[in-house]
Amino acid sequence: MRHLLDTKGLTPAEAVRILDVAEDMAATQHREVRKLPTLRGKTVVNLFFEDSTRTRISFEAAAKRLSADVINFSAKGSSVSKGESLQDTAQTLQAMGADAVVIRHGASGAPQTLAESGWISAGVVNAGDGTHAHPTQALLDAFTIRKRFFGDDSRGRDLSGLRVTIVGDILHSRVARSNVWLLTTLGATVTLVAPPTLVPQDVSAWPVEVVYDLDDAIAAGPDALMMLRIQLERMNAAYFPTEREYSRTWGLDAARLAALPADSIVLHPGPMNRGMEISAAAADSPRSTVLEQVANGVSVRMAVLYLLLAGERTEAEEGGR
Ligand code: CP
Repeated sequence: MRHLLDTKGLTPAEAVRILDVAEDMAATQHREVRKLPTLRGKTVVNLFFEDSTRTRISFEAAAKRLSADVINFSAKGSSVSKGESLQDTAQTLQAMGADAVVIRHGASGAPQTLAESGWISAGVVNAGDGTHAHPTQALLDAFTIRKRFFGDDSRGRDLSGLRVTIVGDILHSRVARSNVWLLTTLGATVTLVAPPTLVPQDVSAWPVEVVYDLDDAIAAGPDALMMLRIQLERMNAAYFPTEREYSRTWGLDAARLAALPADSIVLHPGPMNRGMEISAAAADSPRSTVLEQVANGVSVRMAVLYLLLAGERTEAEEGGR
């Protein structure tokens, strides 16, 4: 793998391969000595122009568990505030020896620009760009679903036969977009539930069904219900119902949790707005995979860094793709 920018271009075999390598990485995390020597001598730069808790820290943990050196860069407090460009920032970090750059940026397309510009030779991993994509989040969500439903038989499997319902602020969600492409590539059936004003205009081109009533969607019996964070920071009054109306109509409260099939699971990428899109009863219930998702995120990011920096490359990748 040369870069990881999106889940849209992954083939089923490539997606299953990443999940299987993540299984191998997860297995090493139960040993007494968790650190692997695999990426000794490599440097991973975390280049974050937007805030993050889970993604940044788990990429750091993943790189360190593979024995890579890690440089953490946060735009806040850097020379970005003096007007330094993405190109100059990235080239400065490359000059310090970056082999991989993990980038989060508020502008959709920034990781692709970095990967295709020729400014740097390092591999680029998209850690979330605008409303466009968050591929490692989708991979860790798929990994979590596969693990919950297939347990020790997960390896080599896709998600055929499973029904995943994604609920909430689809319009602003890079997590939803990356999950739609990855989960359907893996054979799952995906349904979206949202207020009409929070459904993207181009959704008719997505391989999903869209419904507007959460109770109907729950009555349909999904295997996995993924609640999305309401992105109040990206919201405009025209898009958003009142907070009370939102939680009453589209929030996962205790009654809706009880109406789900007994073996269904509840995902949330975090950070959660408790009491808005998800109640504490749902977030803390045994069906909730929120903390498993966080733990699995380290294994998935170890797999991505391994495949980027130590894995074999196809001819097309060697040519710069
Ligand atoms: N899920 C997610 O991307 O969380 P952070 O913003 O904390 O990284």
